[in-house]
Amino acid sequence: MQTKQIKDKEFDLFISASQIQERILTVASKINEDYADTQPLFICVLNGAFMFASDLIKKMDFFPEISFVKVSSYSGLHTTGAVKNLIGLNEDIKGRDIILIEDIIDSGLTMKYLFEELNDRHAKSIRLATLLFKPDAFKGNYPVDYIGFEIPNEFVVGYGMDYDGFGRNLPDIYHLKS
Ligand code: IMP
Ligand code: MG
Repeated sequence: MQTKQIKDKEFDLFISASQIQERILTVASKINEDYADTQPLFICVLNGAFMFASDLIKKMDFFPEISFVKVSSYSGLHTTGAVKNLIGLNEDIKGRDIILIEDIIDSGLTMKYLFEELNDRHAKSIRLATLLFKPDAFKGNYPVDYIGFEIPNEFVVGYGMDYDGFGRNLPDIYHLKS
């Protein structure tokens, strides 16, 4: 089995590049079907989702608009939880059909924040597309509309996702060696 050493950790091959591409085709055809009569705006959540977004939008039958945002987390001075901040959304999204593109949904807090933020800006509809979903970690109470793979609650790298800044360039997805 193929393994990668990234910094202090060893990772095993988990989902191959060809499995990823095959699955993206299925997700893409569902989106093509659902949005046949609309002009959605894709919003890619950086950094992790850049590879998934790139491959997904190449499979669209229409000419989608795509925007890139970042969610920064910082600890507020007077709050106990992490305060989040949305960077880079310059489009007026009022009345738009939005598809949020994420690499992975873990606790779901990041998506919850984005969902509420876009709702406040009066998006017409918001759907979520994520390559990976960890159902056992998910604490959200909103639907995740397009899912590439459901995975166990374990740490993964590759295909855009990093361990401490490294591993994003890997074409396959790896998980922590058990
Ligand atoms: P959430 O807010 O807990 O759903 O976390 C979502 C974000 O955490 C993702 O966009 C990733 O950037 C990061 N993340 C969650 N799980 C992993 C993982 O297994 N590997 C790498 N990044 C992860
Ligand atoms: Mg991410």
